[in-house]
Amino acid sequence: MDTYEIGVSVVLTGAALLAGAALLQRVVQRLQLSFAKHPSLGGHLRMSKRFAHWLPAYSYSQDVWFSVDGAPSDIAQQRRAALTALGDTLKARSPLTLAQTDATKPMVSDMQLTSQYRVPYQFRAFLSEHLHIGYFWRDSQGVWLHDMDGNPFIDVTGSYGVNLFGYDFYKACMAEGAALAQELGPVLGGYHPCVLDNVQRLCALSGKDEVSFHMSGTEAVMQAVRLARYHSKKRKIVRFTGAYHGWWDDVQPGPGNPMPPSGDTLTLNDMHANTLRVLRNRKDIACVLVNPLQAMHPNRAAPSDSTLIDGARSVHFDRQAYAAWLHQLRQVCTDKGIALIMDEVFLGFRLGKHGAQGYFGVEADIVTYGKTLGGGLPIGVVCGKSAWMKRFRDDRPGDICFARGTFNAHPTVMATMNVFLQKLDTLEVEQRLANASQVWAGRLEKLNKRLRQADIPVQVGGMETVWTVLYDLPGRYHWLLQYYLREQGIALSWVGSGRMIMSLNFDDAQFEQFCNRFVQAGKNMQQDGWWWTPPLDQQRPIRRQVLKEMLKARWA
Ligand SMILES: Cc1ncc(COP(=O)(O)O)c(C=O)c1O
Repeated sequence: MDTYEIGVSVVLTGAALLAGAALLQRVVQRLQLSFAKHPSLGGHLRMSKRFAHWLPAYSYSQDVWFSVDGAPSDIAQQRRAALTALGDTLKARSPLTLAQTDATKPMVSDMQLTSQYRVPYQFRAFLSEHLHIGYFWRDSQGVWLHDMDGNPFIDVTGSYGVNLFGYDFYKACMAEGAALAQELGPVLGGYHPCVLDNVQRLCALSGKDEVSFHMSGTEAVMQAVRLARYHSKKRKIVRFTGAYHGWWDDVQPGPGNPMPPSGDTLTLNDMHANTLRVLRNRKDIACVLVNPLQAMHPNRAAPSDSTLIDGARSVHFDRQAYAAWLHQLRQVCTDKGIALIMDEVFLGFRLGKHGAQGYFGVEADIVTYGKTLGGGLPIGVVCGKSAWMKRFRDDRPGDICFARGTFNAHPTVMATMNVFLQKLDTLEVEQRLANASQVWAGRLEKLNKRLRQADIPVQVGGMETVWTVLYDLPGRYHWLLQYYLREQGIALSWVGSGRMIMSLNFDDAQFEQFCNRFVQAGKNMQQDGWWWTPPLDQQRPIRRQVLKEMLKARWA
């Protein structure tokens, strides 16, 4: 070998070693990522999309509808009569509301979707012939909603979380806000004078330096992520399995989004050391998004009755453990220059004036708010440290981080928010918030005690004022409870018994009424035979049974 050949061979060996090392690093990184995924389908989005695509449509026919759990014919008969009676009652009570719903639904795609996805899909076709729920409300007063026929319902829909202090509170904010903005009208681009007060208050509440206004929580999250990418000069974002952050593509990958999951979104295992290892070892992560509502059910999506196949729903809220997890996240984000984004759009001021940051004792780099902060009007807000919020670079004039929106900082919204923020500072509201934890923990326990005393196989779990209904037995018909609750005059959102969002304006007497109605609904459902269970030796795992049905329907 001459020196030229030796040189070439050294260069080639070096290149091969480098390529090998790079490959090895990629393999290690890929493995670490795989280990940081939650083992459920929710942690594997491509697979869950494939599964969603594969899912065959089939419906239970009348013959089996009442006895898919193997109930004997007398129980099936009892259930059939009960369903007819329940349907008749709901129909007779709300003719105007239902007529309005029926007339509107064919033209409102969102209504069609939400009315379809109230129950497991196998039951839907036959159910829709019998049970109808109206979508229209005439007025709200205190904890009550009235439908178009004047029927009163205790509201635990919470208006998607907006309703924290009671509808009358927001009506007052809206009226005072409209009056405050009246003179300026719809002038956009400039600001209503109240905006200075808003930003001062928001900076104080969030502990941040700057604020930007948007029109929805989804937009606030989009902007927070964009800023994190701009300042970190990295592309990837981390979200946790099951967490909702609005419906924008990058934060809502997986089923429900026709696009394949973006390679720039990493969906990782919440409260797991392997996730911390990924954050520590990678160099391409711009931000970590936390929705603190997940503390209630880490790694699970919001519980909806449409997925209540067997009643396996659980709540594991451990405030200390979640706070400890957030501290670990905070540390790794600080060490690695990753933006920690606390998405408080849902929980916002529900956990106290200083939100999830205050409640869990952790400081984020950027916080997003929405819902209740608008005082009853649509809103999204980003608060952040200046280093993360600035939208241009002094040394590179062409490099800006663009975000606008025609209606951002609309005068009426700003004025209504101003009223909301001022009310937040009143002694009365401060006391209500300060007592909420204790009051609602006591109420939760009270309802559970009443349910146990009545021997109903249902309990309620939750986090502060966000509750979910839990079922003590495996069963195929738990989702029917939402209709029994409706009959008793309790209004739930379209996710049914999976979410009850309580407002702080409930007094003890109203809560007592809520308990009476809830327990009565449970008793009725029990009496009607829906919680009949097969003898122990005949019990079969429901999920396996449903999977078999699916396979059969798929290959049929
Ligand atoms: C945590 C969280 N982030 C973002 C959003 C999106 O907010 P919006 O529905 O106002 O777009 C939601 C909505 O429920 C939310 O709960």
